[in-house]
Amino acid sequence: MAIERTLSIIKPDATKKGVIGKIIARFEEEGLRIAAVRKTHLSLREAQGFYAVHSARGFFGELTEFMSSGPCVVIVLEGENAVLKNRDIMGATNPANAAPNTLRKLYADNVGENAVHGSDSLENAKNEIAYFFRETELH
Ligand code: CMP
Repeated sequence: MAIERTLSIIKPDATKKGVIGKIIARFEEEGLRIAAVRKTHLSLREAQGFYAVHSARGFFGELTEFMSSGPCVVIVLEGENAVLKNRDIMGATNPANAAPNTLRKLYADNVGENAVHGSDSLENAKNEIAYFFRETELH
């Protein structure tokens, strides 16, 4: 299997709950390495830029206001099949549909405040990683 990199974001609801360490530990337990990590507080403009692909969706305003409402943690995960593996660890977008023991089942409250983001394809992962990190910051 190929070694991939993917972007994870621990969202403001999860940082507020104090589960940053638990989420990062879970990634490592599942065999994903932390290639880069930074705590940040996105401006509304930064959140709008990151989620530009969703700009026509009805929930865009709600999503970008929430993502800029408090600190989050941006992480580059690296490992075998990292894109899909991270999505398995996260669970379904809506925590009501997420499998037991996934991060969203454990820590998310609803589809809007769903604890974590993860890139949905290798191509998007490259773009999302480049949105937050320079190549020289990945180790
Ligand atoms: P994420 O994986 O970060 O990618 C896009 C986000 O849009 C998604 O997680 C959800 O948090 C959010 N989202 C998707 N559908 C809805 C919805 N119906 N209402 C509010 N937010 C949504």
